Amino acid sequence: MPGKPKFYLTTPIYYTNGLPHIGHTYTTIVADVIRRYKRMRGFEVVMTTGTDEHGVNVERAAKKAGIPESEFVARMAAAWRGLWDELGLTADEFVRTTDLQHVRTVQWLFRLCRENGYVYKGHYTGQYCIYDNAFVNDAKRGDNCPDCGRPTETVTEENYFFKLSAFQQPLLDFYKKNPDFIQPETRRNEIVSFVEGGLKDLSITRTTIRWGIPVPGEEPHVFYVWFDALTAYLSAVGGPEYEQRGMWPADVHLVGKDIIRFHTVYWPAFLMAAMLPVPKQVWAHGWFLMDSSKMSKSKGNVIVPRPIANMLGMDALRYFLLREVVFGQDGNFSYDALVTRYNSDLANGLGNLASRTAALLEKICGGQIPKPMERKPQDEALAKETQAAIGEVLENYENMSFARALEAIWSAIASADKYLTTEQPWALSNSDQEQSRKATILWTTAELLRIVTVLAHPVLPVSTAKIWTLLGLPGSVAAVELDGLRWGQLAPGKQLGKAQTLFPRVEKNEAIERIEAMANEERNPAPAAKPTASATPAGAAAVPQAAPEKIGIEDFAKVEMRVGQIKTAERIVGADKLLKLTVDIGTEIRQICAGIAQYYEPEKLIGRKVAVVVNLAPRKLRGVESNGMVIAAAVGPEGRPVLAGFPDEDVEIGSRLK
Ligand code: MSP
Repeated sequence: MPGKPKFYLTTPIYYTNGLPHIGHTYTTIVADVIRRYKRMRGFEVVMTTGTDEHGVNVERAAKKAGIPESEFVARMAAAWRGLWDELGLTADEFVRTTDLQHVRTVQWLFRLCRENGYVYKGHYTGQYCIYDNAFVNDAKRGDNCPDCGRPTETVTEENYFFKLSAFQQPLLDFYKKNPDFIQPETRRNEIVSFVEGGLKDLSITRTTIRWGIPVPGEEPHVFYVWFDALTAYLSAVGGPEYEQRGMWPADVHLVGKDIIRFHTVYWPAFLMAAMLPVPKQVWAHGWFLMDSSKMSKSKGNVIVPRPIANMLGMDALRYFLLREVVFGQDGNFSYDALVTRYNSDLANGLGNLASRTAALLEKICGGQIPKPMERKPQDEALAKETQAAIGEVLENYENMSFARALEAIWSAIASADKYLTTEQPWALSNSDQEQSRKATILWTTAELLRIVTVLAHPVLPVSTAKIWTLLGLPGSVAAVELDGLRWGQLAPGKQLGKAQTLFPRVEKNEAIERIEAMANEERNPAPAAKPTASATPAGAAAVPQAAPEKIGIEDFAKVEMRVGQIKTAERIVGADKLLKLTVDIGTEIRQICAGIAQYYEPEKLIGRKVAVVVNLAPRKLRGVESNGMVIAAAVGPEGRPVLAGFPDEDVEIGSRLK
């Protein structure tokens, strides 16, 4: 039996002098969507990402953090990787450019290019910043250094050059023969005219940078960061032994429009020089902008993904990024638009259809998928429309027209809503005829829901898996083969599964406020808070905590603890570990958040007396104000919280603990 066709796609490898923001998350989400989609179409897919760890910026950042470069990049790589795992975006391979396998691959590629006569030693002259020890790209004589503002000097250093000029015609021929190599079309035209304008040879080694991959036998030469970074795509799938893995050449390199030239000019030229296969396609997407300008740390307008995922779920962020902007174009990011789409399309759209259908099946059909009876023209019309939607959605996924694919899915959802509202199965009687009509209506609605669930799965992996369970369908939605998806496959007689929380509606202003508060917490973690690897740029989690000192009684006296009584307790949307409590502490009622949600049922806490630290400065947890702290023991290796309390005596509320 022939094996599955292979599909290899990549995200760029990200710089380690910062942490992921919504722009990086966008590229990685798109890669994950394509991966899931291709798997559902029967491909064996490998998706890679990684970290780009060399160069002068890392040297500087490590120096600033006061740690060696190797330690700095190890912490940053762990933070990137950790966040991708947390967001459900774990790649199949994660390349660090400091990995030995990668170093070997870069040196091997260089050797091949050199053996084939495309590398020569020359001199590079450019503007150099003596203070920063670095050449300033694109600077002219007399320009100042953009980083430190000091004047640059003209410096000449010995470098190895790559004969890029020799590839002008081969590249133009290649673009012509492979018209889909550069996507979208507009980018293709840009690159073709750039190459037609002539290519200068490229200096691919440096002697002024220390933190890089050494050129074997040529120290102090290290590789220019882009020669190093691009090669990660090959080292991810076997490096010099790439043929054994069978994944190279890549099917798609997904990149932002900012780095298209490196991927469509330099990279194929390096590979051609080494006589290696060239990737099949480079897809350049646009940028997410904040108020029409680029996100940057200095402008303070960087949007981070975790608070959004915590508040609305990752599916919501995935849906928004893919639906809001035509893939390939720039778009504006706004919390307002995000929450609006969440409420309208997810909570009121898909979420509502799923829970409404399940509730009707429960009520009218005893929680079973009914057997459809005689079909009316409106049932046939809905079936036809949904069948057509399958084709339309698949075609749009295939062309990376994600917004259109989602539009087609949501238009099917709207049709189902309309169908239910017109047919009103709840208003029909229990006569035999009307019973069969109800069965047909509900089977039809459930079948449409099954189909949109399958189609939406690449974009909404978490919630579609829940709907799959809710409908009591066998296996996993990820295993459904898209090519075999047809109207009419829903088997009657199956029992519905457990009810699921899909997209709880949120109040817009409150949701935005909480996302912003969490983002602020992430940017400026409270000193007392336990740092998380991914929240702390220099990876503070890796720094061992100092052993606690002994404290005097005067220090203990600073902590005011009192007996409090829990009045209300509720879960917090987007924070599965926290409960929001109101606690009577004798003099007032306080709102306090406690990290006990996984171990205590909120209803069972009402009336319980607890020990409360009452003079803690108020702070926001997951965006919710917490004014005080409830004391609990941390039990066992996972620190299961057990509330401290007063089971034996009826202590008065407000009594002080000493
Ligand atoms: N390290 C290089 C890439 C080397 S690949 C061999 C690099 N890294 S980066 O950290 O700057 O990430 C670049 C990628 O992040 C962009 O190409 C793009 O995919 C994504 N984005 C960064 N900011 C973005 C937005 N504001 N919007 C959308 N994507 C953006 O360049």
